[in-house]
Amino acid sequence: RFVSNHTPSLLNPSAAVKRARNDSGNKVAVVLGAQWGDEGKGKVVDLLATESDVVCRCQGGNNAGHTVVVDEEEYDFHLLPSGIINTKCTSFIGNGVVIHLPGLFEEIDKNEKRGLKGWDKRLVISDRAHIVFDFHQAVDGLQEVQRQAQEGQNIGTTKKGIGPTYACKASRTGLRICDLMADFGEFSTRVKNLVLQYQSMYPALKVDVESELKKLKDYAERIRPLIRDGVYFMYDAIHGPPKKILVEGANAALLDIDFGTYPFVTSSNCTVGGVCTGLGIPPANIGEVYGVSKAYTTRVGIGAFPTEQLNAVGELLQTRGHEVGVTTGRKRRCALWFYVLDEIKVGVAYKINGKRVPYFPANMEVLQKVEVEYETFPGWKTDTSAVRKWSDLPPKAQNYIRFVENRIGVPIKWVGVGKSRECMIQMF
Ligand code: IMO
Ligand code: MG
Repeated sequence: RFVSNHTPSLLNPSAAVKRARNDSGNKVAVVLGAQWGDEGKGKVVDLLATESDVVCRCQGGNNAGHTVVVDEEEYDFHLLPSGIINTKCTSFIGNGVVIHLPGLFEEIDKNEKRGLKGWDKRLVISDRAHIVFDFHQAVDGLQEVQRQAQEGQNIGTTKKGIGPTYACKASRTGLRICDLMADFGEFSTRVKNLVLQYQSMYPALKVDVESELKKLKDYAERIRPLIRDGVYFMYDAIHGPPKKILVEGANAALLDIDFGTYPFVTSSNCTVGGVCTGLGIPPANIGEVYGVSKAYTTRVGIGAFPTEQLNAVGELLQTRGHEVGVTTGRKRRCALWFYVLDEIKVGVAYKINGKRVPYFPANMEVLQKVEVEYETFPGWKTDTSAVRKWSDLPPKAQNYIRFVENRIGVPIKWVGVGKSRECMIQMF
């Protein structure tokens, strides 16, 4: 029997294995919301996107609203990664995102009018992403009405159909982009069955399924050139030539379905685990993770908010900070801050029955009742929006920032002092 000298021994690692031992591939940098959303993720993503080759969304849907201000022009993004304005970068919508196609095109049209060009050459969509239908949005509204009637309060969702779509995904009745790309007759049957299921739960639900399908057929042809196998797309981005890859988190840590203020949360994992599952990449490829926080906290919608300022301070923050939801236009609830104030209080611990707890309580009734322990700092009472260097910040502001940094034990990389691209102080 002839045995080639070139037959590799099964006991020796292949070239790919040897490579993987030394190098797991390109890393992705991640930007996440550390509070209740609206921290200014769009601005940080915009800063990093200028040197990125790929910008990805991995979870959430058009419940997100990310504002980017470039040369006085204000863009707002909901489903599109904010990197889409960077002409050198590919924007990727991963499998963990839920996509409302009419919303996507509305957003594209709006941003085209503001000067966005060539997006169709730079946008890639995973074939595994789930589809948000108009009736998911209607059901989102009906569920809110039901919650209000049964419990006397709702969640205050964005009514973008996010919860119902992720629920369908988990109950395995959802439809994905790959289904829309395949046989349309089969797709239509599954959509109609889903509508029937919903109508048996919500008899008041009216759906014009034929007209929704007709619109989807048109959208399907418009997005067809953008659809890829998302897992392979990411594999290639990671293991191909060196690339800078950035992930734009949507929503925020305290809205995370596992770690947030459940049930007043969104329906996806907005913390770092969502990056791996929402893109199909291993943890070893996660590089720098940046959490974005405001100097004060805000929250839209309902739910425990222990440091909330239901007083003149809260009103001042709301108006001075222009705290209005980008997605829903609702006023944001506000808690504690900065330069116009004589003193700034920082919540440093929660107490239950007078005893400090070293964790964030899971149960909402408990969280509603916690007592907050504050540390107080003198306010600097000067406008800092023109400051670009750390050394030019008032010492009282520096003091406050260093205190926060030491308390959380995480180095602060940038301090934002205003809305637009230039309004950033880089710390290291
Ligand atoms: P970005 O990415 C602020 C809130 C909603 C509601 C709850 C559930 O812009 O920071 P949903 O529609 O997701 O089922 O609503 O979560 N919420 C956000 N609040 N910013 C966001 O995203 C949010 N995404 C969801 O207001 O209270
Ligand atoms: Mg927002």
